[in-house]
Amino acid sequence: MGIDKLGCYVPKTVLPLTTLAYARGVDPDKYTKGIGQVEMAIISPNEDVVTMAVEAAHTILDEADKASIDMVLFATETGLDYSKAAAIYALDGLGLPRSTRALELKQACYASTGAMFLAMDYVRAHPTKKVLVLSSDIAWYGFENAGEVTQGAGAIAMLISHNPRLGVISEGLKTVRNEKDFYRPLFSKVPLVDGKLSIECYTDMLKEVEDHQPHLYTCFHLPFANMAKKANSVLSYPMDEPHLNVVKELGSVVGNIYNGSLYLSLLSVLMHAQEDLTHHTLGMFAYGSGAMAEYFTITLQDNYMQGIHLDSLKSITEGRHRLSMDEYQTMMKHYESKEYASDIDLSDHVQPHQTFVLASISNGHRNYKKVK
Ligand code: CAA
Repeated sequence: MGIDKLGCYVPKTVLPLTTLAYARGVDPDKYTKGIGQVEMAIISPNEDVVTMAVEAAHTILDEADKASIDMVLFATETGLDYSKAAAIYALDGLGLPRSTRALELKQACYASTGAMFLAMDYVRAHPTKKVLVLSSDIAWYGFENAGEVTQGAGAIAMLISHNPRLGVISEGLKTVRNEKDFYRPLFSKVPLVDGKLSIECYTDMLKEVEDHQPHLYTCFHLPFANMAKKANSVLSYPMDEPHLNVVKELGSVVGNIYNGSLYLSLLSVLMHAQEDLTHHTLGMFAYGSGAMAEYFTITLQDNYMQGIHLDSLKSITEGRHRLSMDEYQTMMKHYESKEYASDIDLSDHVQPHQTFVLASISNGHRNYKKVK
């Protein structure tokens, strides 16, 4: 039981952290060396959590996969609607059968991992079926606050199956606590964050659940790249620096994608590890503020690279548009007004790499369009 295929999508517009640092009057070394981020992905005007999730799924699903999917679980903390699940829009965009079960799940950045374990129970009971777990988020903290440097946007698609091509997942050790480190009450458009407390909760809970085994790589939920350094330092068997750099490499140019972040770290290892990882067991740590954490492992299978689409992963960092500060501010103002709009036309904004876009919102309903 485990991950059959793993795909990813990240917007092509990014803000260099040095640009942000100069604009905010901060030493750029704080962001690039202290926080460890080089760039962060910024959502484009005609994208949202649904378009990103569909783009991520497009990179891995073939027609046979689509025919075997019995359930879509959509993990997000960037919900579009209090009632309708983003999974319904995504299922429609992917052309999945009408007999598919579609649900949205929430527990901060942990929901994707919770969904993956629920999906594994489902395929245990229905071994011929597969479950598509989508995780998609936009980390938006607002302008000019401590969280601004730890933003990002992106999606992960995971196909869960009985005989996985990529990796077998072990039963995890989990822990939950009622914490107020990071939450977004209904009155607020951005999260309320106690950054120092959130790091303390994260590392405390990691210490509580880690497996005290040496692993060549342990992948982490990475709200910012140097969180890997803090997490690694509390492990019983910390990784050496070259291995730690592999774990955080992709995250350092994407930023926080909340639910997908742990799996972005896994993709970073699959893309950048120097070793053949066949039959290697990697550590995996999921953390969702509020707070829920789980440590589990993934054992990579023969031909595990068949479970990813390497070209689309390599293209994440290709052809990116690096935003100026003015462009970034305009895009995030547009993002906020779009998310709360009842009617908007977005048909002018299609970019060459996009295959599925948000064309308009009418009376609060989202109208998506295939553009390839
Ligand atoms: N040169 C080099 N390094 C510098 C520097 C300089 N000129 N100035 C500062 N630094 C270093 C600091 O020493 C510090 O390093 P250490 O943590 O290793 O000590 C690092 O840069 C950051 O500096 P500060 O701690 O002073 O930064 P800050 O007060 O501005 O806050 C933050 C950082 C808490 C991460 C903040 O950005 C934040 O609140 N982010 C959102 C919350 C978050 O990401 N929490 C993470 C855990 S919660 C979670 O994982 C869930 C989730 O997804 C949100």
